Amino acid sequence: MSEKNNTERLLKHLFDGGPWNVYEPNILNLGVGAPGTDLLESNCDNFRKATDHCLQREKTKNQSLIFQYGPTSGAYEVRHEIATYFSEMYENPVNSEDLIITTGATQGLHLVLSTLIDFQGFIFVDEFTYMIALDSMKHFTSLNIIPVKLNDDGVDLKDLEEKVSKRRFKSEKKEFWGIYYTIPTYHNPTGILFSPDICRGIVKLARKYDFLVVCDDVYTILHYDEKPTLSRLLAYDNRSDPDFVGSVISNGSFSKILGPGVRVGWLEVPARIKPILDGSGFANSGGCFNNYTAGIVRSLFELKLAQKQIDRFYEAYKERMLATTEVLRDELPQSCKLVSPTGGYFIWVRIPDHLDARKFLEYSMQEEKIFFIAGPRFSLDGESGKQFFRLSIAFYAKEKLVDGARRLCRALRNYIEKNPAGS
Ligand SMILES: Cc1ncc(COP(=O)(O)O)c(C=O)c1O
Repeated sequence: MSEKNNTERLLKHLFDGGPWNVYEPNILNLGVGAPGTDLLESNCDNFRKATDHCLQREKTKNQSLIFQYGPTSGAYEVRHEIATYFSEMYENPVNSEDLIITTGATQGLHLVLSTLIDFQGFIFVDEFTYMIALDSMKHFTSLNIIPVKLNDDGVDLKDLEEKVSKRRFKSEKKEFWGIYYTIPTYHNPTGILFSPDICRGIVKLARKYDFLVVCDDVYTILHYDEKPTLSRLLAYDNRSDPDFVGSVISNGSFSKILGPGVRVGWLEVPARIKPILDGSGFANSGGCFNNYTAGIVRSLFELKLAQKQIDRFYEAYKERMLATTEVLRDELPQSCKLVSPTGGYFIWVRIPDHLDARKFLEYSMQEEKIFFIAGPRFSLDGESGKQFFRLSIAFYAKEKLVDGARRLCRALRNYIEKNPAGS
């Protein structure tokens, strides 16, 4: 076996194997958008109880059907638990019949891309967006990806309309000629919460030009300030509007609130789209994408263990975000800019225009052993956004984050001093 294969065989997690392993005690990897061990560890007891509960029922009352190919959308009872919980969290109804169980938002997006959009079509994305969603889109090499300007309150509607209106065509092959992909609630990487006006504007444009809006809603319930007016953009696509057709998909996941290894998520889709997804070979061939684990998650909710765990994650993230942004507000050099996010995982920092965050990253790694993700990783061309970087508050406990934020600010002060404008 080659050395490389041997290393691969020993990898234990996604962030393993490189010099910036997030579990390495001497470094601070602020690039990682995932919960750390201190949050994940109570899952061991909770999932053991839920598994016992679930399998007992399967044996005695359900003909062990959890091990059978599931119904394509997932068992009704699983969808019911998700719908009930998120209706309460969103303060807006989620209907079980609109849900399709997935193995997480990554797969939800992939299902949408492979079934709903004309392969000669267009995907509009925010100028800075979730970098791995971009990677997924690029696999569909005939699709055209078009970046759209992003402001502090969400996508620039004028730019979106201009770009959409120029490219619209009538697809003979698929339901949609175009998709706008975004993360409207606590955006990745910018932390932005799209304003109600922007959300309404997006829905209006989607109806006018009949494109599909796909929202990764993986941070929606992680609000650390007032709850947003409506937690997800889908709620702005009001069914009682006279021109309603169903233009928005909400792509949800338990990765950030129970654990990424669980690999359970759900798509919430309009009625006109559900049969297309349910009828696709990709969804149909395997039955429910994750029948077994989704059943365990159902028990986790029935035993009220999921609710408790989500509360714990939420409280920890909130504490981490507030503590980290407080340090940054006090200690970032004045020439840098930060809009403290009101929810989610990410803090987007702007450094002076003459600097390059990729170069500062090298300095920060060398001087302070702190890693983060420089802006260009989030742009389609891999070059734009050099004056930004993204920090994540998810992985480390508050004390480590506070110390890290102080050291990062110190590194940035020194770096700016060494590299004045015009030098
Ligand atoms: C916007 C966004 N979408 C999707 C994902 C991945 O979600 P999942 O683990 O449910 O596939 C992430 C994780 O970082 C994310 O930030």
